Amino acid sequence: MSDLAIFQLTDEHKMLRDAARDFAQNEIAPIAARFDESGEFPHETIKKMGALGFMGIEVPEEYGGAGMDTLAYVLALEEISKADAAHGVIMSVNNSLYAYGLIKFGTDAQKKKFLTPIASGKSVGAYSLTEPMSGSDAGNMKSRATKDGDFYVLNGRKSWVTSGPVADYTVVFMVTDPQKKQKGISAFMVDSKTPGFIRGKKEPKLGIRASATSELLFENCRVPAENLIGSEGDGFKIAMTVLDAGRIGIGAQALGIAEAAYEAARQYAGEREAFGQPIGAFQGTAFKIADMKTRIEASRLLIYNAALSKERSKKTGERFSLEASMAKLFASETAMFCAHQAVQIHGGMGYSKELPVERYFRDAKITEIYEGTSEIQRMVISRSELGLK
Ligand code: CAA
Repeated sequence: MSDLAIFQLTDEHKMLRDAARDFAQNEIAPIAARFDESGEFPHETIKKMGALGFMGIEVPEEYGGAGMDTLAYVLALEEISKADAAHGVIMSVNNSLYAYGLIKFGTDAQKKKFLTPIASGKSVGAYSLTEPMSGSDAGNMKSRATKDGDFYVLNGRKSWVTSGPVADYTVVFMVTDPQKKQKGISAFMVDSKTPGFIRGKKEPKLGIRASATSELLFENCRVPAENLIGSEGDGFKIAMTVLDAGRIGIGAQALGIAEAAYEAARQYAGEREAFGQPIGAFQGTAFKIADMKTRIEASRLLIYNAALSKERSKKTGERFSLEASMAKLFASETAMFCAHQAVQIHGGMGYSKELPVERYFRDAKITEIYEGTSEIQRMVISRSELGLK
């Protein structure tokens, strides 16, 4: 990868990126195919990533995190995802969908209790918004939280929860006032040991198979009222703000997949010969390499720009939705493009499980779907540009 001329990385950024790269290539890349095949959750490597500070990069040091910025986060996440996108999404959800909301909206007591264990990698965090009948239309959820003295009683069914089968703590969004639609949604921290918190069916997935995804069921699950994040009715805005951060993470994950596919394709194009010359000497292959490289660099610019916009927002409070959606949209479509081209350049070998290229192809697809489909990103971008929201 190149260092982009217009973005100045500090020595600290470079050290973190190099540490992530070494760890990813030495400890994750060699096991990625095995965990993809078995669909087993990689507990050991996730714990090690916690010890290295990768599971809470932006979490302040007083809560056990690395206390670094969003650029540091995307640099490390790209390297991890280049070795294995499943490790990448576990890291991304922990850092952004889970931790960012607590950092931004949590009380000091909530941060101490719910941030500290996940920043160290000892515990895993999850985010639960989607329901069987409300995915893209997140505001249409039906799960209910009803106040009962010093508790909220949670009932409902959530789906597609990344790390759902293993998470120790989950931020859960439920309706507290059905009359108010989006303004009647609230956010709660739920400890998985709470009675009535039930892990549902684990999803058998096409890609990112080592990251566990499941339904979560809530049956009269009594959560202390002190676990409410912000005030009643703040939930939808919290969910959306946190998703803006999450989308930068998925952009970085997609960039890692794109890079891995590109590197494999570039190498193969130089080695494999046909009709008496390396296939890279044919324009049909060479132009694919050119397009992959260009889209990867454009993705990186958009992701770094979104990361810096999020940093700026810490001071100004301004939203960075537009930058995050553009980065996620372009990087995820680039990951799919590059994985597709890499399979094509490899021919039959691209279709074989002997090489990781087919895994990149399967892993890339989800980046166009979760944390807002490409269609939702285009909706956010166009609404912003047309002044409709
Ligand atoms: N930041 C802050 N506030 C926001 C916001 C944002 N990014 N987006 C919207 N809001 C606010 C609006 O300003 C509005 O507030 P006011 O009424 O006070 O003006 C309120 O929220 C409602 O906004 P909209 O009318 O725009 O809401 P909508 O119902 O039209 O939905 C949407 C907008 C962008 C389509 C949204 O529903 C959305 O992002 N959908 C996709 C959901 C998604 O990404 N799901 C993925 C879940 S996580 C996952 O994938 C699994 C995993 O574990 C990885």
